[in-house]
Amino acid sequence: MPKLSDPVIIRGKKIKNRIVMPPMVCFSFKGDHGGMYGEQHVDHYTRRARGGAGLIIVQSTPVLGAVEQLGVWSSGQGEPLEAIARNCHGYGSVAMVQLSCGNVDINELAVEQIHRMQADCIAAAASAKQAGFDGVEYHFAHGFTLCKFLDPEFNKRADSYGGALQNRVRVITEIIPQIRGAVGEGFIISVRMGGNIPDVAGAAEVAKALEKAGIDLLHISFGMNMPANAVPAGFNGSAIAYNGSEVKKQVHIPVIGVGEITTAEQAKFLIENGCLDLVAVGRGMLADEKWANEVLADEPVNQCRHCGDNSRGCLWFDDHTQCPAS
Ligand SMILES: Cc1cc2nc3c(=O)[nH]c(=O)nc-3n(C[C@H](O)[C@H](O)[C@H](O)COP(=O)(O)O)c2cc1C
Ligand code: SF4
Repeated sequence: MPKLSDPVIIRGKKIKNRIVMPPMVCFSFKGDHGGMYGEQHVDHYTRRARGGAGLIIVQSTPVLGAVEQLGVWSSGQGEPLEAIARNCHGYGSVAMVQLSCGNVDINELAVEQIHRMQADCIAAAASAKQAGFDGVEYHFAHGFTLCKFLDPEFNKRADSYGGALQNRVRVITEIIPQIRGAVGEGFIISVRMGGNIPDVAGAAEVAKALEKAGIDLLHISFGMNMPANAVPAGFNGSAIAYNGSEVKKQVHIPVIGVGEITTAEQAKFLIENGCLDLVAVGRGMLADEKWANEVLADEPVNQCRHCGDNSRGCLWFDDHTQCPAS
């Protein structure tokens, strides 16, 4: 079985260890020159790369405007993203960016609007590649727009984007060839999705369909809601991580798991028992930028205090300067 320090190669990109920084919006950071991103973001991600994360997935970034190269996708705003990718590479981390489609009711969308969104998804991947990133992660989790397509309990569309499994995944599966055409062979196309849409069996079916369509990597979090299923005795992890491990059994592509992974012991359990291929450490890495290097060196980490009942209680959602750990 692999070790936490073992590399994994995806689409020719060598991820030097199994530790991932998952996407986390830095709500209280300021962009430069009125843009979305700036020096604060560059510094934040550079520190986590220096801290040893094998893979860094930059926060949820809207695809909106990508076709016209507006907003974050305009050449005027590209520099911070380019600097993040460059600096991550400088410290040996693979760098991806999470792409999202906002939070609209998909049952109300006209087909033209879906096609428009898909065009932005393709264009954003091409721009991310141009900025120097190694891959993109489409945000199909946490109840946002793309997540709603996947969930049979939410998706009530009566057309080719709702109903049967192949329809619910169509929003992404039908554009994979175009995304691949735009980014080339050596670029990671990933999906972050729930391991409970609406349950783990449903998630596994979606995961298999995505794999078949040509996705390179899966990141299993939660879907429309936090999972309510139990974790069997002996599994050293959260329900979200457990569902990730169950989905992993059904696919052949690498799976990232996440959710309350805070200690070296947990991370090692999940990797060394083959439950997951990579582990994402969110708040742990907000609280301690050197989390990865310290865990790999068997040194103590600066523990996240787990403010609130779950990750939504994290003070980084409001004002990172209030975080008691960093
Ligand atoms: C401040 C903050 C911002 C987040 N932003 C995103 C995001 O942009 N996209 C996403 O998919 N998840 C986001 N998440 C969820 C994290 O990626 C992660 O799944 C969650 O924090 C659970 O992992 P943890 O227990 O290691 O913190 C965010 C979490 C936090 C705390
Ligand atoms: S604000 Fe609280 S939950 Fe968030 S990283 Fe800091 S200590 Fe952890």
